[in-house]
Parts: sequence; structure tokens; C-alpha cells
Amino acid sequence: MQKIPTNSPAKPELPLNLTGAHITAGASSAHRLYQALCEMIVSGLVKPGEPLPPSRTLAKQTGFRRNAVVTAYERLIADGFADATVGSGTFVAARIPARAAEPKKSKVVVEAPRQGAFALGCTHIDQRAVQRFRAFVGRRMRAFGAEHLHYGDPRGSRELRAAIADHLLSVRGLRCDPDQIMLTSGTLHALRIVLSAIVKPNDQVWCEDPGYPAARKTILHCGYRAVPVPVDEHGMRVAKGRTAGPNARAAYVTPSHQFPLGVQMSMPRRLELLDWAKQAGAFVLEDDYDSEFRYDGAPLMSLAGIDHLQRVIYMGTFAKTLFPGLRIGYCALPERLIADVTAARAALDRFPGTLMEGAVADMLNSGAFAANLKRVRKLYREARDALAGTLQAESDGALSVPVPSQGLHLVARFDPSVDLSVAAEAKHAAGAEGWLLADTYSRTRPLPGFVLGFSGHAVPHLVASAERLARESRTALRARGKPARRA
Ligand SMILES: Cc1ncc(COP(=O)(O)O)c(C=O)c1O
Repeated sequence: MQKIPTNSPAKPELPLNLTGAHITAGASSAHRLYQALCEMIVSGLVKPGEPLPPSRTLAKQTGFRRNAVVTAYERLIADGFADATVGSGTFVAARIPARAAEPKKSKVVVEAPRQGAFALGCTHIDQRAVQRFRAFVGRRMRAFGAEHLHYGDPRGSRELRAAIADHLLSVRGLRCDPDQIMLTSGTLHALRIVLSAIVKPNDQVWCEDPGYPAARKTILHCGYRAVPVPVDEHGMRVAKGRTAGPNARAAYVTPSHQFPLGVQMSMPRRLELLDWAKQAGAFVLEDDYDSEFRYDGAPLMSLAGIDHLQRVIYMGTFAKTLFPGLRIGYCALPERLIADVTAARAALDRFPGTLMEGAVADMLNSGAFAANLKRVRKLYREARDALAGTLQAESDGALSVPVPSQGLHLVARFDPSVDLSVAAEAKHAAGAEGWLLADTYSRTRPLPGFVLGFSGHAVPHLVASAERLARESRTALRARGKPARRA
């Protein structure tokens, strides 16, 4: 290497600063020394071409081992901050990279997920299930081997897909081959992948109105036209869909437990929806997000089960049956869509990671999943009863609270004549989380009320919060000169 000419001798002591924002606390001494040397060089405290002290001298100055100094110098040289010449020592490089601008503090505020009373999406995972899951994850990590080192099937681990196929048959009456199942990182991810395979940008997609706002956002975000289709006590009004979105190629529905209203799609409506799909050459995306939590009666057959997976794509998630942080969901595909959806998945993000999938398969196959469900279903039923009972008793007729026979949320409504702002005021005054029912509507005239989650919240907390919400609902009504009356 060419020696850089310099007239100045090495400084007797380098002006090193080994503390401060440029130093990573807890990093190795070599790394901290490297950071201090970089800072000194880019801030001009030593000039290009100046010699750096021999490693032994710098070790003495800093109290670090000589090895650490040698490592720091090697990294400086590799990164272009210094040059070395055999026999002559180490020098600051003739040209050094410009100092990187301080990263600006972002002004974007990302709201932390809410977990207060009535927040939706909270779940309780039983301690016994946590222990089993930990043990399964540990076992999978210890067995980590060749199958995890390479690119994998865009549909994810076959083992978990097979376990899901068994689960769907036993609890949802849905018969499918593991090859028809694709693992995703949740329902919205499944929605995005499937839509990208079956519709084109700008195509119409029917959505329930009111409906699940997150799904609607995904549809819009992907560049499709979300067509709001009203919902009544039988579910999505298919005839309205035919007029509002005559060219739609897909419909997103929650037939087993409509989100948020909680109605179950009637059999005539299901058949009408399937007829439309056949005639239009369209597909129905069935979001079966909470069917594992059925409190009364036998589980209902899924829409995909009735259709034998011809025109319906079934979407499920472990976000509620286990926990949202797992980020594992799945879809079951009609045979005719497997190739296109698999290609769409490969183009989007190749394939899902397989380590956690093994542990979830263990949960399902060992019975730990079913045992957890049985335990938490009991807790959620108690939470549902406590919430509905308190709201009914304390709102003095201001709120109507149908008790859902399934799911993890309920809807509490004012009389339809009540102004929407009453619900907003009461929710704010009570410091309640959950949603305003009106926020789930698109085009249909919204109803005043609340969407309240009860899963994953302690019963005493739910009861106290429900008392507050009921009280504030009565107060907000009274302020409008409206007596509380049966909603
Ligand atoms: C209607 C509906 N579908 C699906 C989900 C789950 O979505 P993901 O699997 O993407 O977490 C939720 C979660 O709250 C939901 O309310």
C-alpha cells in the first residue's frame, strides 16, 4: 500500500471521546474504540494523512487490550477511514467519507395499540398454554436443521397445513387437502394475497356496510374499489350488491358472525351469494375470524363448507385462538386457485418463516390448542355475560345490548333516532376504548352505539368500565333532553 505523505508526527495523545451519543453503551471495547476513532476523524480532530499512534501506545492511553486496538484499526482500514503501510504504521485516510447527517427524529406518530377497557383484539392466553407453547418452540429450536435453511413452499409448512386441515374438518365441517391451505401472517395478509391473484387494480370488491374497517382499508390500499353493500338481519344484501357493484369479481364477508353487528347470514342469503358468485365468475372471501368462540349451540357450517370450496376462499387466524403477536393466519383455497394464489404469494414475499409454524402444529396436534380454547371460551363467556348484564342493568333502557352467541365483542346501541354525537360524547366522558359503531359504516346511515371487546379483559375491570359507560350514556342522552328509553 502506498504511504500517504505527511510531515506531522503522531499526536502524543489522541483526542478520543469514549462516551457520548456516538458510542454504543455495552458494545465491545473494540467497537467502542472504533466508534470513538471514527468520530474523531470525521469531526476533523485528526487530519487526512496524519499518523495514528502505534497500537501498543493507544492501548496504554485507553486502558484497552492491544487486541481491541488492532481490531478497531482493522475495521477503520476496511471502512476506508484509515490506511496502513507495513513498517510505517496506520494513517488517517487521504479522503474520508463525509460525516453522516444526524438522523432526524421522526414526526410520524404511530399510535400504540390500545388495551384499555373494551379494546378489541385483546385475547387471554392461558398460562398452561403459554408453557406448552414455550416448550414446543424450545424443542423446535433445538431441532433446527437443514429444512429451515433454504427457501420454502410459498404456502408454508406442510405439517401445519395438515394440522389446520384436520382442525377445519372437525370444527368447521370444511373438508380440504393440506395442499389447498396457505399460511399467511394474518387475515389481512391472506386477503391481500388472494385478491392480487383474482382481481385486477380498480376492480370492484363488495364489502359489508357496516363492516370490518381494516379489511376495507386493505382493499382500498391495494388499489381495488371497495363497494359498500348494506347488511340486514340476514347478512349482506346480495341484491343491493348486484346493483351497487355489478362488475365485482370478489366479495368480502363475515357470514358466521357479521362484524360488527353479529348477525349470522341466513341460508337463503348464503345460497343467493353463492349463486351470484357462480353467475359472475366471482369469488367470495369468507373471514371466519371468531367461530371457535361459540357459546350456545353447535358450531355452524362455514360458507366454504356449504360451497365445498368451489367459489369461496376461507380465511382463518390464530390471532384470536392463540394471540395476535404470533402473526399466523391461513386461507383454504378452491383447487382452481391454488396455482395462481401460490404464484401471487411467491411474488409478494416468497414464503413464510417455518420455525414458529412447527410449534403451532405441535399445539394443534398435541391437543394443547383445543384445551386452551376450552378454558378461554369459558372465561370469555363470563366476560360477555358480565359486560352485557352490567350495560343492560345500568343504562336504564338507554342502550339495547343483544347478547352475542359467538365472538369476542358485542354491540350496544342507542335508539336509532339518537344523534351520533351522543355515543361519541359518552365514550369520551367514560374514557372507554372499543369503537363507535358509526365508525364501521361507509355509505349506509350509521346507527348510534358502541362496538365493545370483552375478551382479554378482567371481569371486575369490565364491570366498572361498563358502569361508567352506561352512566355517561344516560347523562349524554339527558343533556339532549332525551329520556332513556328502550333502544
Ligand atoms: C373481522 C376480523 N377479521 C379478522 C381479524 C384478525 O385479523 P388478523 O388475522 O390479520 O390479525 C379481526 C381481528 O380483530 C377481525 O375483527
